[in-house]
Amino acid sequence: MKKILECIVAELAPAFENCGYDRSYARVTLSNRPDLCEYQCNGAMAAAKAYKKKPIDIANEVVEKLQGNEMFSEITAVMPGFINIRLNGEYLASYMNGMQAEDKLGVEEVKTGETIIVDYGGANVAKPLHVGHLRSAIIGESIKRMGRFLGYHMIGDVHLGDWGLQMGLIIEELRDRKPELPYFDESFEGEYPEEAPFTISELEDIYPTASGKSKVDEAFKARAQEATFKLQNGYKPFRAIWKHIMNVSLADLKKNYGNLGVTFDLWKGESDAQPYIPGLIQDLQDKGLAYESQGALVVDIAQEGDSKELPPCIIRKSDGAALYATSDLGTIIEREKDFAPSKYIYITDKRQELHFIQVFRVAKKAGYVKPDTQMVHLMFGTMNGKDGKPFKTREGGVMRLENLVAEINDAVYARIMENRTISEEEAKETAKVIGLAALKYGDLSNQASKDYIFDIDRFVSFEGNTGPYILYTIVRIKSILNKYQEMNGHRAEEAKILAPVSDAEKALMLQLTKYNEVIENSFAETAPHKICQFIYELSDAFNKFYNSTMILKEEDKDRQASYIRLITLVKQVLETCIDLLGFEAPERM
Ligand code: ARG
Repeated sequence: MKKILECIVAELAPAFENCGYDRSYARVTLSNRPDLCEYQCNGAMAAAKAYKKKPIDIANEVVEKLQGNEMFSEITAVMPGFINIRLNGEYLASYMNGMQAEDKLGVEEVKTGETIIVDYGGANVAKPLHVGHLRSAIIGESIKRMGRFLGYHMIGDVHLGDWGLQMGLIIEELRDRKPELPYFDESFEGEYPEEAPFTISELEDIYPTASGKSKVDEAFKARAQEATFKLQNGYKPFRAIWKHIMNVSLADLKKNYGNLGVTFDLWKGESDAQPYIPGLIQDLQDKGLAYESQGALVVDIAQEGDSKELPPCIIRKSDGAALYATSDLGTIIEREKDFAPSKYIYITDKRQELHFIQVFRVAKKAGYVKPDTQMVHLMFGTMNGKDGKPFKTREGGVMRLENLVAEINDAVYARIMENRTISEEEAKETAKVIGLAALKYGDLSNQASKDYIFDIDRFVSFEGNTGPYILYTIVRIKSILNKYQEMNGHRAEEAKILAPVSDAEKALMLQLTKYNEVIENSFAETAPHKICQFIYELSDAFNKFYNSTMILKEEDKDRQASYIRLITLVKQVLETCIDLLGFEAPERM
């Protein structure tokens, strides 16, 4: 379905042309003076320069041509040469009915079949999933859902950190705790047990202990490095332990992500890139891109126009170990082979900026991706506590995701129980649904690149720009629709939306018209906060309409059915948007 601005331009362009001006001057924007008009065209000002005329004369000529046009209730030229526009209510109603008739309420799908990889989540296996990974999971899930809704072939990959020093640390700590295990007996030749030698809670204790030890015990650290090296070179017993670590943590990670409404198409990780690395290094050398520098192998990435000097990308350290960048390049080679995506979107915090600049440039330089493949690094800021410093628990540590979610759910539960209209049981379930919305909306409503303050009290509030406020609006609409159905035995499916009869109703419709444009832009700009802003304004517009309109007491049945259709559309738009943000609304709250 055409966007509302395009529809208006389609009327204005011929008018400009008929007056002898180029049709490209018929640019239309939302009005920045809503008190004066709904839309405005400033094209006459630009045309004035080209045609050496007074802007107001051009505006007057164009407006003259459009008198009587059914799309507008008002189209006027004002000094010094603006064209002010208001839409006709009938036209607006027909646009609403058009949206309702469309599969995706007016959002067009792309038909190119393009594949896009979203690399998000990025948890590190065997380390607890903490708030640092939260933003990546939340933002990435939303980007993936948006792209899929728009018809792209989206592939979400969690890209686990499953190949680093943490593995060696765990192996050596395990050796200290259970030296009798066959993995540590060099003469053992049998089959290794299928059962993991630890549970998830043991594993959760093993890693932090080992990590702590390695900071004070040099010998332990050296052992862990040695074990990591052996694992990476295929030493069988350690590969077997690694598999156990993977199985046990993956189950836990899936549960944790699942609780957040985050799912992945691929559960790949750094380890999957390893087979590609020897060939990659060879290739970079053959192409003359990689060279030795102080014992390491590096590729220059500096380009003309760089505002600061960028260091080369290290491909292999002097001790022979492959690096983070190498494994990301290996992953690109695998993804090209499997999917040949037209675009990559990586979502991490902004401290990884240089890393991705390096990886992207090497990938382009070496021709691992096509010259026109889009490589996007969506960088997000830090989640801070109320003190403005990176978020910590009360004890001062990094908080575990589970605890964070529990804390939010408790806060919501307390809020719900204040009014106590539902059973404790239902309140607990509802608190989970609302808690997730509070958490995700609290994050997504900020421009991703900015730091934000994690403020539970604000996030769980039912008023203001919060997730619960949006849910509350949806629940309110559901309740009106249910009452209408009880009164009438149906839901006004056949009815048409009529021209608005109040300013609040018109404002609501005008807000709805923005829907398709907002969804497209949010995805194109990888900016979920734009969807949040839109639904916040839509909820406000709905609530103003609701407060000024007696929907259920309306005596004119056609009018009433039109209201019902309109608020149904609001509900559908809100529900689609929150689904794209990655959460849902409860039945009641
Ligand atoms: N595991 C990494 C970390 O915790 C994030 C991975 C991001 N994705 C990537 N392809 N490098 O920092």
